[in-house]
Amino acid sequence: SPRQDFMGERVLVSAGPTQEPIDPVRYLSNRSSGKMGYAVAEAAAARGAEVVLVTGPTALAIPPGVQAVAVKTTEEMHKALTGHLAWSTIVIMAAAVADFRPARPAGQKIKKDAKFPTALELEPTVDILTDLADRRTTQFLVGFAAETQDLVSHAQAKLKKKGLDLVVGNNVLTEGSGFGSDTNQIILVDRTGRLTELPLMSKRMAAHALLDRVRELKPDNRVR
Ligand code: PMT
Repeated sequence: SPRQDFMGERVLVSAGPTQEPIDPVRYLSNRSSGKMGYAVAEAAAARGAEVVLVTGPTALAIPPGVQAVAVKTTEEMHKALTGHLAWSTIVIMAAAVADFRPARPAGQKIKKDAKFPTALELEPTVDILTDLADRRTTQFLVGFAAETQDLVSHAQAKLKKKGLDLVVGNNVLTEGSGFGSDTNQIILVDRTGRLTELPLMSKRMAAHALLDRVRELKPDNRVR
């Protein structure tokens, strides 16, 4: 087993997509498989952390030693994460959270008849990460940035705007990187301004590289 350098840390991880209902049988979602967030949860547990994984709907098995909280909507994910914030020492936000949701989900299945809606009205969801940054006390806060262009500048902007300690940027258009794949090509941008561009690697290796950087930046919580 790897070195137990996260012993004493309580890591709160989010993973997977959210689902925003249109009606009782339909929803808006995205292509997140949960693989990246689950890899982070598994790696943190293997390195000795206590881990709570707040997960949107995925097809993945909960990694060994990880406590899972299953959610569907952004609102449910927000509640689960704020509810565990005080417990945690590190928060890693790998979930692909909806930015918009249907403004008035129908209570009944929308019928395919003459009155079917030709447009869907949307409203913004809560930005969970920004809210966690506002509420946090001593927690080390890691965000992800899913980008299709200008990865470095967008990741740097998200670090500042959301008040984070570290941002993991991934170009989601690169072959074998981002949504759904077993591999990812990430960059790390931290609050000291340091930028590291990593090659394409398994999500498991990317998770460990991310945790290595967290360990360098955050004071150790271990009881000696
Ligand atoms: O799940 P996989 O298939 O393995 O794919 C992995 C991934 C591409 C989903 C993952 O690596 C990733 O990039 N996750 C973040 C996706 C995302 O929502 O990025 P964003 O740039 O839109 O958001 C920036 C940050 O704010 C993210 O940490 C996100 O979790 C958070 N956010 C976004 C919107 C919102 N309403 N609340 C949030 O907290």
